[in-house]
Amino acid sequence: MIDKIKQYQKEFEDRIAAIGLGDELRQLRTDFLGKKGRVTQVMKDMRELSSEQKREVGRHINELKNWIENQIREKTEKLAGSSTQGTENVFDPTLPGRTEARGSLHPITQVMEELITIFISLGFEVAEGPEVESDYYNFEALNIPKDHPARDMQDTFYIGGAKVLRTHTSPVQIHVMEKQPPPLRIIAPGKVYRCDSDVSHTPMFHQIEGLMVDEKVTFSDLKGVMNIFVHQIFGEKTQVRFRPSFFPFTSPSAEVDIQCVMCSGKGCRVCSQTGWLEILGAGMVDPAVFGSVNYDPEKWTGFAFGMGIERIAMLKYGINDIRLFFENDLRFLSQF
Ligand code: FA5
Ligand code: MG
Repeated sequence: MIDKIKQYQKEFEDRIAAIGLGDELRQLRTDFLGKKGRVTQVMKDMRELSSEQKREVGRHINELKNWIENQIREKTEKLAGSSTQGTENVFDPTLPGRTEARGSLHPITQVMEELITIFISLGFEVAEGPEVESDYYNFEALNIPKDHPARDMQDTFYIGGAKVLRTHTSPVQIHVMEKQPPPLRIIAPGKVYRCDSDVSHTPMFHQIEGLMVDEKVTFSDLKGVMNIFVHQIFGEKTQVRFRPSFFPFTSPSAEVDIQCVMCSGKGCRVCSQTGWLEILGAGMVDPAVFGSVNYDPEKWTGFAFGMGIERIAMLKYGINDIRLFFENDLRFLSQF
């Protein structure tokens, strides 16, 4: 039995020297000191021995037990103190690589970029303007005087003084025309704000404004540009319809509808059984607006349009609640 004990000591020594992990150490402890471990077994077997043998073997086995406990304590401290030497941090070239979780552009950004690309191909340039606007740019220069009922068409966030959060991208028209003489062709994408909230309206949303000014620009040019853009975004077969409307800064004005993308014009819940969906407002630039920027309305004509980007994205992807765009739920966003 004493030989066995010595043999166990040797075995323990070899095994503990090879250990690099806490788990392996725990296993080693179980193998020697656990209920069915080697040391425990020897102690059980001692029952068969004479009392003299018991004393002799008992001394050896107790020594081994204490020695093992000390060894384990030391090894534990060593592993904790220098975890970088543990095998858990050794580079294992056979493990599969960790791939980065890749994000993607927000669907609104994607649609915005798609729209910008289409208009750039038609010769438009991108312009920008401030989101905090003066009353003058957001309303007055666009032929919406104070106390005019047209102001109620948009629920405005007033932020003190004569400042507002712009309610549409149309003020960019004024900024551009003040700086640049005609002819010009611009689009102005950006954020706009209205005190408005339900399944198809959010307090912040995006618009793209378009403005083309030249000699002899006509309503046919507007129709042509609108047709090209709708066909590129929604497909060649999508019908476009112009419906008379009113905006203070255009005359004549129209709202542009496309054939309902859900039912292909047959009539459904989304299009309120009409077969058509409104996507933007447009018209010929009102001479009063040219007056604000000192363009000669006898010489220059132009068209302008403004569309909601969320609206276009909802129709393109069949999304029925605009608020999904702003909840930042990755399960929604990762679909695009
Ligand atoms: C305008 O904002 C005009 N400035 C458009 C225009 C430009 C007309 C140039 C003529 C010439 P309107 O208020 O209808 O028009 O808004 C245009 C589009 O913005 C709407 O068709 C709709 O798609 C979107 N829109 C309006 N309010 C919201 C809102 N609260 N949330 C999301 N989209 C909205
Ligand atoms: Mg409208």
